[in-house]
Amino acid sequence: YAHQARDLRPDGHPLTVVAHRGASEDAPEHTLAAYRKAIEDGADALECDVRLTADGHLVCVHDRRVNRTSNGRGAVSTLELADLAALDFGSWKGAATDREAPDLDATSVLTLERLLELVADAGRRVELAVETKHPTRWAGQVEERLLALLGRFGLAAPPPDEPSRVRVMSFSARSLHRVRAAAPALPTVYLMQFVSPRHRDGRLPTGIRIAGPSIRIIRKDPDYVARLHRAGNQVHVWTVNDPADVELCARVGVDAVITNRPKQVLSQLGRP
Ligand code: G3P
Ligand code: CA
Repeated sequence: YAHQARDLRPDGHPLTVVAHRGASEDAPEHTLAAYRKAIEDGADALECDVRLTADGHLVCVHDRRVNRTSNGRGAVSTLELADLAALDFGSWKGAATDREAPDLDATSVLTLERLLELVADAGRRVELAVETKHPTRWAGQVEERLLALLGRFGLAAPPPDEPSRVRVMSFSARSLHRVRAAAPALPTVYLMQFVSPRHRDGRLPTGIRIAGPSIRIIRKDPDYVARLHRAGNQVHVWTVNDPADVELCARVGVDAVITNRPKQVLSQLGRP
C-alpha cells in the first residue's frame, strides 16, 4: 500500500481510530446506522456532537440547524425531540426511505442515550468522544445533562486504575472546565482550529490533557505533536481522511485520528 503506516508510529503504540460522526463516509452522519457500521468496521472509538433540544434531550446533531442533514428546518434548540423524530435524517445521504420498509436506523434522529446503549451492547470495548456544541448558549445545561446521562451508564466516574471509556471534547475551554469541575476523572479534549500563541509551546488550558488540533495545524507544523507530548499531553487529530494525512499522523506519533472512514484507515494501518 502506498501509504502503509503500520510501523511508522515512533513508540510502537497503535494509533486509536475514532469514527467521526460514525462511519459517516458510508452512512448518514450521526445515525445509528453510521455508528453500527463504525463498530462493525473495528473502530476503537466513536465521535459525536451533542446539542440540547427545546425539551431538554441531548441529540447527536452537528449543525445548529437541522437543514443540511434532514428534510426539516430550524434550530435544534427550538425543536422538541418529537419534532426531530418526525424528520428524515438519512435521505440526503441516499438512505432508503421506502414507506413500506423504512430504514429507521439510517433515517431517525439519534439521541445520546440510544448511542450509549449501542456502545454498552457492542460486545467489545468501544470508546466514545462526545463533543459539546455551542455550550455557552445553555450556560452549563449541556454539560449537566451529559454528565447525568453518563452517570446513568456508569461512565462519569471511571475507576482510577482503568482508562475512561468516554472523553468530552470542545472548542470551548469553559465547557471543559465545567465538565472537569463536576467529573474530575473524565478526560477532556481541547479542540483547536488554530493554535493560540499561549498554546504554541504545547501547554493546554489548566487540567486539560488532550489536544484536539485540526489536521491543517499538523500539516503546517508537524513538530507541534512533539511539543504537546513534551508538555505531557496526548494528541487527537481531526478530520483525517486522506491516506497521506494518516501516514503523517502515524509518523509524528499522534495518539488518535478522528476520521469519516475508519475501515480504510484501519486497513492502511495494517489492522484487520
Ligand atoms: O472531532 C472534532 C471535530 O469533529 C471538530 O469539528 O466541526 O466536525 O465538529 P466538527
Ligand atoms: Ca465534532
